[in-house]
Amino acid sequence: MSEIKKKILVTGGLGFIGSHTVVALQERGFEVIIIDDLSNSRVEVLDGIFSISGIKPIFYQIDLRDKPKVKRVFEEHKIDGVIHFAASKAVGESVEKPLLYYGNNLISLLNLLGVMVQHKSENIIFSSSCTVYGQADKLPITENAPTKPAESPYGNTKQIGEEILRDVAKVDPINVIALRYFNPIGAHETAKIGELPLGVPQNLIPFVTQTAAGIRKELSVFGNDYPTTDGTAVRDYIHVVDLAEAHVAALERLLKGKNKSKFETFNVGTGKGSSVLEVIQAFERVSGKKLNYKIVGRREGDITAAYADTSLVNTELGWTSKLSLEDALDSAWKWQQKQVK
Ligand code: WQD
Repeated sequence: MSEIKKKILVTGGLGFIGSHTVVALQERGFEVIIIDDLSNSRVEVLDGIFSISGIKPIFYQIDLRDKPKVKRVFEEHKIDGVIHFAASKAVGESVEKPLLYYGNNLISLLNLLGVMVQHKSENIIFSSSCTVYGQADKLPITENAPTKPAESPYGNTKQIGEEILRDVAKVDPINVIALRYFNPIGAHETAKIGELPLGVPQNLIPFVTQTAAGIRKELSVFGNDYPTTDGTAVRDYIHVVDLAEAHVAALERLLKGKNKSKFETFNVGTGKGSSVLEVIQAFERVSGKKLNYKIVGRREGDITAAYADTSLVNTELGWTSKLSLEDALDSAWKWQQKQVK
């Protein structure tokens, strides 16, 4: 007798991290249902997913702010677990449009939780961010480092999102794992799915690959007067394929009822910090291309350094990052080259 597959709802499943997680879930035998409003993704990503896994996920084009539509999905399927990626994520835009960001990110979460409670769907993984730590006083950053006032409405929606989940989990039958991502980069090794930044990329890696591809003239390195080894800021760049695997591990913990408390947070990073110049050098090595860049002033709101203490996620989720910075940059470059062709 074949085992009945567990049904996992992935919101934002056509986005960058979402699409890689969908593939990882399918490879592990889960049945995936995607909700995505296509506000920052493309429907063709479904074909990319299919060509990797051979399975077309069920797809609903729904804005999570539309609660009756969300309810309908839960009426049509018994959902065993939810992975909630769907959110607006551009830090700068969130400063310009706070109402849009608070509205979209928080109403979506509240609607989802309301419908989950109504339908007795108990497990949720929330996309949080290392941004909740701000500039941490101690490095590497552990999960019990204090959270700092958010630098942007975007960052604030992640902090408030965690607080909402923590409070709801105290009283409702909801089990939560909030994954605090460090800097997700890279693409699937097949180059069939990857990151699709809209307009001028704000994040380092898409800007690097677009510069190498000739789409951007030069990369601006924001500041070389930070108190780091080479003066440029340090981040923990995590391969999106490793990050996707962390979601599967978190989901399995929830489905097995292994979560020790009903609300848990885990850092997801490599534990290794890389400076902007180190990233550029690594990119030049893997791509064989010289990158056109110049040093400019610091970007407002940027912190000096952040990298994860991964002991908790290693021991409790049994997850470790396997892929290197070079692997990630190589895959991002392959993906970029496919975009310009
Ligand atoms: C990395 C480093 C820049 C672009 C942000 C959000 C965070 C998260 C991921 C998203 C920094 C430098 C960048 C460029 C540069 N959330 N840089 N030139 O700022 O660590 O995190 O994105 O969903 O919440 O804050 O990532 O990739 O923008 O920057 O020198 O053109 O690269 O100053 O040191 P960041 P990033």
